[in-house]
Amino acid sequence: MTDDGPDDQPGPSRQRDVYMQGLADVTPDLPVRYEGLEAAALEALDDDAAGYVAGGAGGEETMTANREAFREWRIVPRMLRDVAERDRSVELLGRELSAPFLLAPIGVLSIVHADAETAVAEAAADLDLPMVLSTASSVRLEDVAATLDDAGGRGWFQLYWSSDRAITESMVERAEEADFEALVVTVDTPLLSWRERDIADAYLPFLDGEGIANYLSDPAFLDRLDADPAENELAAVREFVDIFGDPSLTWDDLAWLTDLTDLPVVVKGVLHPDDARAAMDSGADGVVVSNHGGRQVDRAIPALEALPDVVDRVGEDGAVLFDSGIRRGADALVALALGADAVLLGRPYVYGLALDGADGVRAVCENVLADFDLTLGLAGQRSAAGLDRSVLRKREG
Ligand code: FNR
Repeated sequence: MTDDGPDDQPGPSRQRDVYMQGLADVTPDLPVRYEGLEAAALEALDDDAAGYVAGGAGGEETMTANREAFREWRIVPRMLRDVAERDRSVELLGRELSAPFLLAPIGVLSIVHADAETAVAEAAADLDLPMVLSTASSVRLEDVAATLDDAGGRGWFQLYWSSDRAITESMVERAEEADFEALVVTVDTPLLSWRERDIADAYLPFLDGEGIANYLSDPAFLDRLDADPAENELAAVREFVDIFGDPSLTWDDLAWLTDLTDLPVVVKGVLHPDDARAAMDSGADGVVVSNHGGRQVDRAIPALEALPDVVDRVGEDGAVLFDSGIRRGADALVALALGADAVLLGRPYVYGLALDGADGVRAVCENVLADFDLTLGLAGQRSAAGLDRSVLRKREG
């Protein structure tokens, strides 16, 4: 249970701060509505970066469907149930989280803001939200870990599984040494999808040397090169493209990875309940139900639609996290009520980063946390961990 008094909880405290500023005619720096935030960020970014962040696979049907799926579920608020103190905490992988949110792994943040993952780490630590750092980060994982450590934050490391097993092993070892708490193995990206915006812009940020810091600092990767990357960056980039993904992986390989590390392993990018079961049977500690924000398989089912069956199939055997379409507090409440243990916030914080660096990430996350806290209470619910399907009604017809 939180120690905060009723007014110090995130919802009322954020409202109070904003409305008090309003007395001096000061309004929030960043657009508060998600639609305005996205529009302002895309306007601020250069066209290539905007297309890379906002875009999805193919005709972007899945990206749209991710949002539409939320409309299928409505909250049935309950009244007069003493919601003065709300407990937003949840338990995940045996540890407590003060709120059911993590920051999703998003690569190549240097194309969004010069402070990139460092800014995200600072904001995440300030808000006590774990940051999931992408393998494709623009800042080395050891440096992000140091920032998190200095600021008292928590980090998980997302692993892209290289076709060179020595590199995969090395990345896991580095993540362990840097004290990341868990590994998130993304399994929906053995190949990069056909992304029409990026193809039209003929733009892949990695080819500009962006988002490959973890590779350029990896001994196993450097072993593959004939020359120092500083002398021949193009050769290093080409090598990266060659070894980035491994389309030949199977669930047996996952068992190899879960044996390799003592860190909890969470498998990200699962949509079919049988895959969730296979992940658990291969020794994973949980899954992230996700379609990569609609960036991999166009016409893939919306992640929210996949969630209930995965939750039922995993049962008590592991954690189920969710992403792809979380924009507001009510979205998070719906995913939790459908059985997710926590949700990952993706594009919204990237748009905050684009507009105002660490302060922008902080503002966006604070708004989502405040909205979640208020929605929880107004729905007549006192506890995030206690949410279940009884708070929802499916749209009819
Ligand atoms: C991603 N995502 C992602 N996932 C991952 O496991 N490793 C990565 O490096 C990246 N990189 C990345 C870049 C960009 C620009 C985006 C938008 C997304 C997917 C991410 O973790 C998450 O699954 C989605 O962002 C969720 O969708 P929404 O809610 O952001 O639309």
